[in-house]
Amino acid sequence: MHTLTVETPGSRYPIYIGHALYDQAETLLAPHLSQTVAIISNETVAPLYLPALEQALTRIGRRYFTIILPDGEAYKNSDTLNLIYDGLMQHRAERKTTLIALGGGVIGDMVGFAAATYQRGAPFVQIPTTLLSQVDSSVGGKTAINHPLGKNMIGAFYQPQAVLADLGCLKTLPPREFSAGMAEVIKYALLGDAGFLSWLEQHMPALMAQEAEVLAQAVYRCCQMKAEIVGEDEKEQGIRAHLNLGHTFGHAIEAEMGYGNWLHGEAVAAGMVLACRLSEHLGYLTPADSERVIRLLQAAALPVEAPPMSLERWIEHMQHDKKVSDGQMRFVILKQLGRAAISSDIGREQLAAILSTTLDTP
Ligand SMILES: NC(=O)c1ccc[n+]([C@@H]2O[C@H](COP(=O)([O-])OP(=O)(O)OC[C@H]3O[C@@H](n4cnc5c(N)ncnc54)[C@H](O)[C@@H]3O)[C@@H](O)[C@H]2O)c1
Ligand SMILES: [Zn+2]
Repeated sequence: MHTLTVETPGSRYPIYIGHALYDQAETLLAPHLSQTVAIISNETVAPLYLPALEQALTRIGRRYFTIILPDGEAYKNSDTLNLIYDGLMQHRAERKTTLIALGGGVIGDMVGFAAATYQRGAPFVQIPTTLLSQVDSSVGGKTAINHPLGKNMIGAFYQPQAVLADLGCLKTLPPREFSAGMAEVIKYALLGDAGFLSWLEQHMPALMAQEAEVLAQAVYRCCQMKAEIVGEDEKEQGIRAHLNLGHTFGHAIEAEMGYGNWLHGEAVAAGMVLACRLSEHLGYLTPADSERVIRLLQAAALPVEAPPMSLERWIEHMQHDKKVSDGQMRFVILKQLGRAAISSDIGREQLAAILSTTLDTP
């Protein structure tokens, strides 16, 4: 078992990474839970992982009730959020009731926002069950639901009491979802650690086979990097924006193709290739650097080419992105592999050049 600590100005909490973490519920869970616990999960994850959590809670003497939500990004909205509030009210949850998010990033983001707002703030614990949520969304306190006009538009910064990343859960994850999470793993290497990039190149086959210790090391390194970045810049006023590498292009792909058709991680993978091309265009990366990134993404069974889209659509989607600041589109670029920077003065012509292979209109 590996432990990390996240420290922000207002909070300090552990991330536990390992296998069969409920076996240590007395030390890993009990200290972070109130007497009453609301477990919130979805229809896919609950049948797989709810019984073991319930047994652990019973063993450590906690009262609990469960709220099971429909599964999918399409349900990450105010209607489903209301189902959480309904369940909390019906069970007379108090402000000190601990909410547990048991599921992937959709559950984690929604439960986090419910916790941030229920009675002006209830404690919550993240039990992420997808690779993406273990390396990214469960750490750092960004919580949100979608609005019909934009993804993650309604939310709050709200940190959990603890994060339990049980790697055993990943065995049941559909392979496409596992790969999508691997896109975020590769992202960390590209934005901040060239050594980790070489390590990933060496170990990708073992990672894809979910070899326990290699997987633990990768998740640990990602959480460590995220914890460092969030510790330095909780509210994304500076370096935290580097975590959006590939995301401005990626969000455009997700929006154009319809959320759910391209998984977030898949869109980010193709987006990172475009971020590499942009970095090449600016004279920072070489074509060989980009090829190296493409090979690694392919080894993780990820797409490396964006779907066809017109330049107008690209720009329209990218201007809608939350990362737009004062009307300026900002891109995370790579000064070299393992070192990210922000660039806000990318013109239309430059974009047209980079996106030329994806444009479906002259
Ligand atoms: N808060 C943040 O900082 C942050 C960062 C990145 C992404 N996100 C958000 O995370 C969401 C994506 O998260 P995700 O990729 O985990 O998707 P997800 O939560 O939709 O999970 C993917 C699918 O796998 C299922 N699943 C989950 N765990 C499983 C398991 N162990 N075995 C079998 N099936 C399982 C889910 O029910 C779902 O069908 C998006 O909404 C995105 O906006 C948030
Ligand atoms: Zn992402």
